[in-house]
This record gives sequence, C-alpha cells and structure tokens, in this order.
Amino acid sequence: MKLAMIGSGYVGLVSGACFADFGHEVVCVDKDPRKISMLLAGEIPIFEPGLDALVARGIAAGNLSFSGDLAESVKDADAVFIAVGTPSRRGDGHADLSYVYAAAREVAEAITGFTVIVNKSTVPVGTGDEVERIIRDANPDAAFAVVSNPEFLREGAAIDDFKRPDRVVIGGNDPQGLAVMREVYRPLALGRSPVIEMSRRGAELTKYAGNAFLATKITFINEIADLCEKVGADVQEVARGIGLDNRIGGKFLHAGPGFGGSCFPKDTLALLKTAQDNEAPQRIVEAVVAVNDQRKRAMGRKVIHALGGDVRGKTVAVLGLTFKPNTDDMRDSPAIAVIQTLQDAGATIRAFDPEGMEQAAKVLTDVEYCNDAYSTMPDADALVIVTEWDAFRALDLKRVKDLLKQPVLVDLRNIYPRDIVEAQGFAYSAVGR
Ligand code: UDX
Repeated sequence: MKLAMIGSGYVGLVSGACFADFGHEVVCVDKDPRKISMLLAGEIPIFEPGLDALVARGIAAGNLSFSGDLAESVKDADAVFIAVGTPSRRGDGHADLSYVYAAAREVAEAITGFTVIVNKSTVPVGTGDEVERIIRDANPDAAFAVVSNPEFLREGAAIDDFKRPDRVVIGGNDPQGLAVMREVYRPLALGRSPVIEMSRRGAELTKYAGNAFLATKITFINEIADLCEKVGADVQEVARGIGLDNRIGGKFLHAGPGFGGSCFPKDTLALLKTAQDNEAPQRIVEAVVAVNDQRKRAMGRKVIHALGGDVRGKTVAVLGLTFKPNTDDMRDSPAIAVIQTLQDAGATIRAFDPEGMEQAAKVLTDVEYCNDAYSTMPDADALVIVTEWDAFRALDLKRVKDLLKQPVLVDLRNIYPRDIVEAQGFAYSAVGR
C-alpha cells in the first residue's frame, strides 16, 4: 500500500518507519524543513532506541521517504495518517486540534481517488466527525473515509509496541475504508495481535480511557505507598501481592514520584474536558490529576525532610531528569517539580541524565549539568535518584559515599535494596518502603 504520514514526530516517524518495515511504501511529511533535511540525511530528530536503524533500513530499501510537500505526498496514497501534535491548549486543558484540522484541510485539497484519512493523533471523541466535515467542505467531490486508529506506543519502547501491540484498534464504519485498513495492518493480523474494529467514537474514547486507567493505576499504588510508609509496610511487596491477581496484573504498579510524559498528563486533562462538555463527570480521573500534581512537589519535600528539614545553602546531586528512562523527553517530568521545590528552599542542584540534559536545560535554569553520575556528587549533601535509568542501578556505593559530604540517598524509584544501602552506612529514603 502507499501510505502518507502527516507529522514526523514521536508517533508519525515510528509508525511510518514500522509500516515501511512491513513492506508498505511510506512518505513521512513534516512542515519543519529542518526536521525533513535531518531525516533525509539519516539523522533522527528524536531519541527512540532502534529508530535510527529502522529509518536507515527503510531508506536503503527505498520504501521510506521524507517530504515537506504534503500535496505531492498525499495525492496517490491509499491511506493518509494524521499524526500531528495535539498539545494541551494553554490554560484550559482542551486538546489543541488546530494542527489536525489544518492537516485535514490540506489533505482534502490534495487527494485523488478513494483515500482513507486516518486519525492517529490522540483526539477527543467526535474529532473524526469534524475532520469528515472539513474534508467534505474543502473537497465536495472527494471519495474518502475517515477512521480512527489510536496509537498505544510507549516512548522508549515505541518500535516494539508498534510491531507487537496488544491490539490494533480501528474505528469507523465505511466498508471500503475498513477494507483498506485491514490491508494496511495485515502484516500484524497474521501475527498474534488482534485487529479489532469498532465505532469511530469508540476508538477515540478507547485511547483516552486506556491512558486514564493506566494513570489511575499508577496513582493508586502511589497513594498506597504513602500509607505503607506510615504503617511500616513495603509497597513493592504489596504491589507484588496484588499484582499476581490476574484481574489486576503486575504492570504499572511501580510507586514513584508521579507520572509525567507527553501523554498521561495531557490525555487525562482532555478526558476531563470531554466529560464536562458531555455532563458525565469522571470523578476518579479528577482525583488522579489532582493527586499526581501534588505528588511531584511532595517528593521535593521528601528530600528536604531527608536532609533534616532545611536545605538552604546545601547541594543536592540529582540523577535522572527525563520523565522515564530511554527517552530524552522532559515533558511534565517529575524532576522539574522536585528540583524547583529544592531550589525554592535554597538548595543548589547538580544533575546528570544520559539523554535528557539538552531538553532539561530549556526548562530548568540554575542547575549545574554534569558529564556523568559521579561528577554530580563531590561534597553534595544528598544524592537523589529521580529517573530509573539503567546507568543508575549499580552505582559503586563505596565511591558514592566517599564523594558525598554525608551519606544520604533518596531513591524516588525504589531501585536500591534498603538493607544493602544501609549496610554501607547510608541514610536511605525511598517511596513506600
Ligand atoms: C504512555 C502509555 O503507556 C502508552 O500506551 C501511550 O500510547 C502513551 O502514554 P509513555 O507516556 O511513553 O506511554 O510512558 P509510560 O511508560 O506509560 O510511563 C508514563 C509515566 O508513568 C512515566 O512518568 C512513568 O515514570 C510513570 N510510571 C509508569 C510509574 O510511575 N509507574 C509505573 O509503574 C509505570
């Protein structure tokens, strides 16, 4: 099939490269000429493990290309995927759909012959109807169908999530459109991934409900962790104890400093807006958003408490800035609130992150960025682990202790065993343990 991917960011570039790897002919389109020229030079504008090799393979095979010309890329495509950003609109949390609508208008003017327009961006329920109206208005004679095909890609695992998804969701009721989509996803359907079809609105809501449920699961274990600290239980034991119930499942039960990223915070807010607009309040998700927002600064206060309640004039070494490992993404990272809380209380911050420092420098000022983990530590009053990069899981604790002014370790991701750390003479604080 000939596919066009509008938007070459986290979703569009991964999806396009994977579709090309299946053997489809793919053109990834982007408005940003800098991004297109980087991609044409074989450089990847985002950090996603394995993506550089996948893109190189597609270019070498000749069925993956990049273009800034949307009309040219779309005109004889069987399916056009809209994978542009839908950021939270400043202030009210509604998803900003202006990029989606602009893409729809441009696509409408360029399509020739029957074309499926696929909303892959995360869009509020009903957006597909609006996209359909826009296209019909812009090109009344166009033969097309609009379907919803939400992505469930985790940053840092996006390629594997695309190639081995738990399910592919296709929302729409146009027979011709569904036939094209079955052909697009045939390589996956042959494998073990169910390709399920439902209404377009059902598919749109599935994306939000899925992310909101995962955010709820994380927030649930985070609050249980707070209770564990009070009653002297270990949240990792409790998480394992409940997670073995296959109705609960053990994933997404790692207590930590709260969820961040480009999806959970944005999608939970957008779901709340849809709920309000349709007078179906989602009170559990409202609580999840409120609890998670408070938690990040509370983690900064946990560090202050570990340092005796006052960090004025003290130096704190921070390991990990990105919202999770294996990404360079700082969007809504808990590290931002943790560091700002410490700075507000008068602490000096030294920080290291394997991939996120360039992005971090755009949002975190007055931080001393260091070249590696250990160079954050000399004479620091505490070491804080905020993101569980593999590089931080086996630090030489004796060396850490010699470098720090005092052996205080705050492990916000529970990646160290308390007994081993305390045996080395550290004062150890964790989450829920
Ligand atoms: C998420 C969804 O997993 C994915 O399906 C969707 O398409 C996009 O949003 P992503 O945001 O990339 O993916 O990261 P994810 O691995 O889901 O983690 C989200 C946040 O939750 C991170 O801040 C992570 O640190 C946190 N988290 C995750 C926890 O605190 N505990 C957990 O057990 C799991």
